Amino acid sequence: MSHHLIARVANRLIREYWNRQDKYLKSQLGSCGQRVSIAPTVVILGKSGLHLGDDVEINNLCHLFAGGNITIGPRTMISASCSLTSTTHSQAVSARSRMINIPINIGADVWLGTGAIVLPGISIGEGAIIGAGAVVTKNVAPRTIVVGNPARPIGTVPADETELPTLKIPSPTKEPQ
Ligand SMILES: CC(C)(COP(=O)(O)OP(=O)(O)OC[C@H]1O[C@@H](n2cnc3c(N)ncnc32)[C@H](O)[C@@H]1OP(=O)(O)O)[C@@H](O)C(=O)NCCC(=O)NCCS
Repeated sequence: MSHHLIARVANRLIREYWNRQDKYLKSQLGSCGQRVSIAPTVVILGKSGLHLGDDVEINNLCHLFAGGNITIGPRTMISASCSLTSTTHSQAVSARSRMINIPINIGADVWLGTGAIVLPGISIGEGAIIGAGAVVTKNVAPRTIVVGNPARPIGTVPADETELPTLKIPSPTKEPQ
């Protein structure tokens, strides 16, 4: 067998393996819409507590503690390395091993930037943008842009018919501020 053929067969087997894994994972979720994309390295704990709308995308290295229920609305995009945790622990040392479940609700058309963290009990309104690295400690209103730790609003998502501002590409020669 030529190397080319071996590579093609191996690729096909890997694809079939991942397709099967993907189907199995989705069958274990609380609910899962159509055309949902969950990258292979996503870790989900408490799978039956996770509810995904149609066309949700969850990128590589995300970590979801769904034991307390996480609901994610249609078309929401979760960038790489985000953490969503719907479980926490009692603060009392003697009771710390006890899990406390508090649901997370993320609306439709939300975009979570890389490495965002969403804490238990948080609701994020539809169309909102969560900046890269944000730690979301308070509810986010629909179509609001939040950044930072703790996440604070910095703006509003423009209406779809509004022309978006030209992207500001940082100059490689620009001095750091
Ligand atoms: C949230 C985001 C969309 C905002 O973009 P924007 O509206 O163009 O914001 P600006 O670049 O004009 O920044 C506005 C202010 O917020 C700050 N800011 C922007 N993004 C920030 C972030 N993620 N964390 C902390 N501060 C941030 C800027 O430094 C700036 O502060 P200043 O006014 O004091 O200078 C963008 O910065 C972001 O985080 N995108 C996520 C990218 C990503 O994760 N991609 C993954 C692949 S999909």
